[in-house]
Amino acid sequence: MAETKKLMRALKGEIMDVPPVWLMRQAGRYLPEYRETRAKAGDFLSLCYNPELAAEVTLQPIRRYGFDGSILFADILLVPDALGADLWFVTGEGPRLSTITGADDFAKLKPADAIHETLSPIYETVKILARELPAETTLIGFAGAPWTVATYMIAGRGTPDQAPAHALMREDPATFDALMDRITEATILYLSAQIDAGAEVVKLFDSWAGSLRGEAFDKYATAPAKRIISALKARYPHVPVIAFPREAGDAYIGFHAATGADCVAIDNSVDSDWAAANVQKDGCVQGNLSPALMIEGGQRLIDETKRIKAAFAGGPHIFNLGHGITPEADPENVHVMLEALRG
Ligand code: CP3
Repeated sequence: MAETKKLMRALKGEIMDVPPVWLMRQAGRYLPEYRETRAKAGDFLSLCYNPELAAEVTLQPIRRYGFDGSILFADILLVPDALGADLWFVTGEGPRLSTITGADDFAKLKPADAIHETLSPIYETVKILARELPAETTLIGFAGAPWTVATYMIAGRGTPDQAPAHALMREDPATFDALMDRITEATILYLSAQIDAGAEVVKLFDSWAGSLRGEAFDKYATAPAKRIISALKARYPHVPVIAFPREAGDAYIGFHAATGADCVAIDNSVDSDWAAANVQKDGCVQGNLSPALMIEGGQRLIDETKRIKAAFAGGPHIFNLGHGITPEADPENVHVMLEALRG
């Protein structure tokens, strides 16, 4: 059967007059209906682990905007939770976890194949979505890439420069590598289970790839992505993978070929024309409107949307932001962007 979903067609390399579109963090605090459902769930983690309510918030932005892609509502830090780390969210501040400072902390983690016990509600959410999404909407599963997940597990929180993770890499490379391996194995199992439940595409978020440079980037961003994608492709050759090595800079060049990713997502620190010439030549790209424009709105939002669409018009492209939409965004500006994009 010919592929009819626009997002799938772009991932297979088709060039379209109007690219498919979705937004990172499209289910989130900028939407009043999200805030209402989160309050009903009690807190963010309870929402993630409640299949009915997690499916409901995943569907909310699809009803409102008719995006081409629907990303499962969950979080990259559920994998550490499932590996036995303590995880909680401090309102207004972000995630907190128990820390991994050496071999003793690492030894307390569960084996990779124990994750399903905790993560089975997420697979249930995927099953509900596979049933309930409109026929034209592509269901996207996801996980954090090992380096980004490791930075949170080591520091116990988000850190501006990922210094604790870099320190462990330097001072206790055996523990650091063992942790990267454990997360990589868990990620393969987690994404496989999402695909088994009905995810049509999966995305790997390496939000902190930008603090890896040179050899460290190859070893801790490229190699784990390649390992995960190879394992998935061996089992699910037709399921496309989107990789997002955020703020990789020049290391975006060649990332498709080096990892086997079908699509590389580009952050908004990168010039679209540069990305079209240097990255899109190797395959589909996703991006890269600044999330700040969803707060600002107005003519600049319209002009930038059109400029980015034009910059990537020569190859396969999925329109998206360069990072997640923020709580301060005006939901009306999403309509302004869609009108500028789709006409
Ligand atoms: O994109 C989506 O709509 C799907 C759901 C999704 C969430 N987090 C929900 C969420 C996805 C794909 C993520 C990925 C994620 N989570 C990343 C990678 C992408 C990125 O933003 O760089 C990272 C680093 C995390 C970890 C995380 N989760 C942090 C640092 C925070 C706190 C910061 C913040 O934005 O509040 C979260 C919380 C979180 N994850 C929220 C949502 C909707 C907000 C929680 C709330 O409702 O209070």
